[in-house]
Amino acid sequence: MAVTPPNSASEACPLSDETTAQQNGCPVSDPAAMARDFDAFQGAYQVDPAEALRWSRDQLPVFYAPKLGYWVVTRYDDIKAVFRDNILFSPKNVLEKITPATDAAMTVLKSYGYAMNRTMVNEDEPAHMERRRVLMGHFLPENLEKQQEMVRRLTRQKVDEFIDSGRVDLVEAMLYEVPLLVALHFLGVPEDEIETLRTFSLAHSVNTWGKPSDEKQVEVAHDVGRFWQYAGQVIERMREEKDGQGWMHHTIRMNAEMPDVVTDSYVHSMMMAIIVAAHETTSLASTNMFKTLLAHRDAWEDICSDPSLIPNAVEECLRYAGSIMAWRRQTTAATTLNGVDLPEGAKLLIVQASGNQDERHFEDGDSFDIYRDNAVDHLTFGYGAHQCMGKNIGRMEMRIFLEEMTRRLPHLKLAEQDYSYLPNTSFRGPDHLWVEWDTAHTPEKILSEARRAKHEFAVGAPARRDIARKIRVTETRSEAEGILGLTIEDAQGRTLPNWSAGAHIELCVGDYDRKYSLCGDPERGTYQVAILCENQGRGGSRHIHKTLKNGAEIKMRGPSNLFRLDEGAAHYVLIAGGIGVTPILAMADRLKTLGKSYELHYAGRSKRTMAFLNRVSRDHGPVLSLYADDEGRIMDLATMVAAVPEGGQIYACGPHGLLNALENLTDGLPQDTYHFEHFSTGISGLDPANESSFEAELTDSGMVLQVAADATLLDAILAAGIDVACDCREGLCGSCEVEVIEGEIDHRDMVLTRNERAQSNRMMSCCSRAKNGARIKLA
Ligand code: HEM
Ligand code: FES
Repeated sequence: MAVTPPNSASEACPLSDETTAQQNGCPVSDPAAMARDFDAFQGAYQVDPAEALRWSRDQLPVFYAPKLGYWVVTRYDDIKAVFRDNILFSPKNVLEKITPATDAAMTVLKSYGYAMNRTMVNEDEPAHMERRRVLMGHFLPENLEKQQEMVRRLTRQKVDEFIDSGRVDLVEAMLYEVPLLVALHFLGVPEDEIETLRTFSLAHSVNTWGKPSDEKQVEVAHDVGRFWQYAGQVIERMREEKDGQGWMHHTIRMNAEMPDVVTDSYVHSMMMAIIVAAHETTSLASTNMFKTLLAHRDAWEDICSDPSLIPNAVEECLRYAGSIMAWRRQTTAATTLNGVDLPEGAKLLIVQASGNQDERHFEDGDSFDIYRDNAVDHLTFGYGAHQCMGKNIGRMEMRIFLEEMTRRLPHLKLAEQDYSYLPNTSFRGPDHLWVEWDTAHTPEKILSEARRAKHEFAVGAPARRDIARKIRVTETRSEAEGILGLTIEDAQGRTLPNWSAGAHIELCVGDYDRKYSLCGDPERGTYQVAILCENQGRGGSRHIHKTLKNGAEIKMRGPSNLFRLDEGAAHYVLIAGGIGVTPILAMADRLKTLGKSYELHYAGRSKRTMAFLNRVSRDHGPVLSLYADDEGRIMDLATMVAAVPEGGQIYACGPHGLLNALENLTDGLPQDTYHFEHFSTGISGLDPANESSFEAELTDSGMVLQVAADATLLDAILAAGIDVACDCREGLCGSCEVEVIEGEIDHRDMVLTRNERAQSNRMMSCCSRAKNGARIKLA
């Protein structure tokens, strides 16, 4: 049953020639054939799901796979859109047998009275949300804090048992059993039959997401049937323990109090499903984490010397090698997804492993980078109404495992081995993970303190402010009057991640965090930025101009890209105003490399103040138009916009006036014609004297949040322990969008169009507010 992927580059590649070709950067010649041949149970997808679907992300992001009978969705934005709409994309097929049961297997299942039905993860609205709210309490951060000591204790016991052995299969020694014990403890389920549960969990996974042979189906059906009966018996035992602790005890009590919401069928089905949901997911994710980190030694060593890196390293492991590679949905009406028509009842395999490496969302997405500042955007926990309720337990376990192991066994290494995986569509992690270390160099043999010390982590997603890498300034130069050019490299001499045109980084200098677009060579591994000294600004650029010298070591976040170039347009009009030339220059370089048709318009107050004039003239001379105010040359935006050919796109970066004028001029053009990036919003801190406090009601939970006059809605949501993505926090990036059901909005962002604002059904929570202190209701 197990597939063994190659262990080194020298081993034979199991992928087809066509797939290999596209791995090397070439498009596949026949995407339709790739779709026709897609096999979720063997070959490339089982070896490396993200890589196996690169061709799809690039060429056919939604395709029908006849061998599976599912539509496969592979791009980040599409997967998120599917997760976001659980009415149109129902989760009802999430626990369905992906390989239909044979008659013989059905007969076996029936003989056990097997009646697996809706739990939480596969329940439709409104029943799902009603149930989720009733059962949410145990998962709140304040209640999870109490579990940390138990996780720590169980982990330490296991490490104590094997620390002197020098070689161990981490799965057998710790990563299988501890998540199972934690799950049982959290659920309040007796810990009596670990090996039985192991057999049952495996059978449930094969039964639901695997492709067992006819013979195996019967064998698995017996185990699944026994698991079903066992779950029923456990519930009966638990019902007798009136004051029992744990989430399943609470569920059983709610079943008595609200039998229409927490139904009998739900309790029995959930008892069976939750063991796998809570334990296999975490066990496999932890195994993937150690395998990935030990294979990226620099990252492992950085964590050994700085455990504060652990929370983001865990997110990056969940992104790069998560334990849930794909999930399922089913359409409730005919619809269109990324231009592809889907009939009512279409079954969808949404491949998070592919979305998690989509370059359209994650810069240099197929590289592993524990300093990635949007790693937490991964889809491994799902998204939206059904997003994993136990995500903070999973995170907690993975963080504690990593903290204990990097402190007590920093010299741990991967042993030579072949990896085997259970072939299935959704759950991923090696069956075994052999590691070894020199026991003579175990730190606690020299310093007993190494055993006891520990680093604690707050429950929840990592804070973005804690994520930054150390860099060194290797050159400073004047790019024009008032513009400082910097070249920077990784402080430890490593190669900085690749980036794409339009990307920016955030420099952390003193008390200032400031974003700057990248404008050097995207593949050289060092970065270049140009910084305008803004005398009327908030002080960040002045401070940087004054203090940054050659050799300075500072911190940096990113790269991230919120201003992406669509490389498929027929023609490009690139427009830069002042320092806005930095991302535009990177775009022009890229378009030239691609051999695309483009024109470049660059305006400034005077040529003395315009950066990169030599470079733009040298590299883009034939398509360049320069406009210096003091020479009386002004851009004729109306003529430029009118001349954009069909299928053409405009990209602009510069001051508000320029961008607003373009927004007005492009109003009637097809959507996606005009793309822009502001390099300043004019939004500074909130002045409580001029702002009103307001209330925001959350429909899902019924919670009412108070937003103080000097705080944002985003602050209030995050403080309530609810994850909302956010990046810029100043109305630029669109990541913190929330849906509004009722109430008037005072929009202050630079993201929504006039039409979208008029609809009043969404807002950027980091900056926009309720009008005049009124109450708003969020979805
Ligand atoms: C749902 C992944 C750990 C309980 C889910 C979903 C995924 C997932 C993909 C479906 C999300 C969706 O449809 O949007 C994971 C991963 C974990 C993990 C990768 C560990 C690394 C846990 C733990 C528990 C848990 C430890 C409980 C103790 C649940 C529950 C749901 C769920 C109850 C259903 C939520 C709903 O439908 O409203 N999980 N999970 N999970 N998970 Fe997890
Ligand atoms: Fe970027 Fe709100 S966080 S728009």
